[in-house]
Amino acid sequence: MESGKQLSGTLALAVFTAALGSLQYGYSLGVINAPQTVIERHYGRSLGVLPPEGLTRSVNHTEEEVPHPSVVMYWSLSVAIFSVGGMISSFLVGFVGDLRGRIKGMLMVNVLAIAGGLLMGLAKMGKVHLMVISGRAVMGFYCGLSSGLVPMYIGEIAPVAYRGALGTLHQLAIVTGILISQVIGLDFLLGNDDMWPLLLGLSGAPAVLQSLLLPLCPESPRYLYIKLGKEEEARKCLKRFKGEYDTSKDIAEMRKEKEEAMKEEQVSILTLVRSPVYRQQLIVALMMHLSQQFSGINAIFYYSTAIFASAGVSQPVFATIGVGVINTIFTMISVMLVDRAGRRTLTLIGLGGMCCCAIIMTIGLVYLTTYPWMSYVSMTGIFLFVSFFEIGPGPIPWFIVAELFSQGPRPAAIALAGCCNWTSNFIIGMTFSYLEALCKSYVFIIFAVILFCSTVFTYCRVPETKGKTFEEIANEFQRRRRGRPSEPKAATELEHLKNSTEA
Ligand code: GLC
Repeated sequence: MESGKQLSGTLALAVFTAALGSLQYGYSLGVINAPQTVIERHYGRSLGVLPPEGLTRSVNHTEEEVPHPSVVMYWSLSVAIFSVGGMISSFLVGFVGDLRGRIKGMLMVNVLAIAGGLLMGLAKMGKVHLMVISGRAVMGFYCGLSSGLVPMYIGEIAPVAYRGALGTLHQLAIVTGILISQVIGLDFLLGNDDMWPLLLGLSGAPAVLQSLLLPLCPESPRYLYIKLGKEEEARKCLKRFKGEYDTSKDIAEMRKEKEEAMKEEQVSILTLVRSPVYRQQLIVALMMHLSQQFSGINAIFYYSTAIFASAGVSQPVFATIGVGVINTIFTMISVMLVDRAGRRTLTLIGLGGMCCCAIIMTIGLVYLTTYPWMSYVSMTGIFLFVSFFEIGPGPIPWFIVAELFSQGPRPAAIALAGCCNWTSNFIIGMTFSYLEALCKSYVFIIFAVILFCSTVFTYCRVPETKGKTFEEIANEFQRRRRGRPSEPKAATELEHLKNSTEA
């Protein structure tokens, strides 16, 4: 939308409501960590490899500590199936978003979240392992869709001046979800024998609230005007977002984008991959998602307790919650900075900082046996690693895809980038333990190298999108395609002059 400054109540409500989908994603990411041993015990009973409840005390202690291979297999499946669900459904984001609009799309997919929550919440009523696995699969399928639909809707309704900050709220909701799940997953709260089904089942709760609020939120005016050609409805929604004002400038900007879109055919995922027109944007978008995941961030989130324990930290569970807190604080800082410092700068600082931290963590782990105080070095390394991640590489890839593409290819691009994110997330989740066994204390060197390459890529290829309209961003890539790498200085200055007079 045009660079309006209004942050109306309706806009706040719409962003909050959409972000409930991201909260659910974060909660589902984090919830599986803490209650692992408790749930494994239930799997053992349900599979008949452990005696039924009540007789557990008579079981040989070591038998309980080293889970049966089939329990390990079903547990790994419960963790991994979530990403598989996400990988598949993220491909459908464009289809669902365009089918009946962004609002109805988010509303429809909530059925999945509630079904997934119920399957896990009622796990004890059936075969525990099968109920949890199917619940996680359905929930992953839901999260793959919501992790695309939420940034798409927010990106389309946010005024240019606040697009970064509002886009970062998607990540803020994710990290809040992770933190909530870490805290209520503690064994004296819900992470215990009796309450764990409720802990898992609660993943579906935000969907209930979101379903109640979505009907109060206006549809994306860009969807209404550009996709459906409903100008009057688009004007009405613009006014609901911004109050009574002259919508002609916003409509004119969308008209231009629509005219551009009409020159092209409907952009499917296949066209997007093949077309040289979008190649530059696509490479940037995919590389940003790949650097986010292959930075190794989820190695920390999935295995932090184990990493802290091996780094010599005495209370690893609380250190993990500490990571969650730092994570949330630095995402808040990013919300404040992203529209001032810019996406490119924050991504560069974040990736470069994470690269240095990966080296610090390695030094800490390697010298731990020689100098016990090195555990503090590793711990500081981990905390800083997460902080740098949340400054830029965490939140920015999620919303920059909506900024890099115009209305025509946007849904397909978001779908492809989402699928890339989920697939690499899955790969890291599956391979990290093996990598660690192979490389021991040097495992983070792999991420340091990847982070170094990502920093160089960002420096050379990622443009600044802060404060630019979708058309200006598209023009930047058009210039690059024609072999003129950056805007002529005079033109940039003219643009700034124009913007400041308009403001
Ligand atoms: C981003 C990543 C997600 C990760 C989270 C951690 O949202 O996409 O995989 O778990 O950040 O904060």
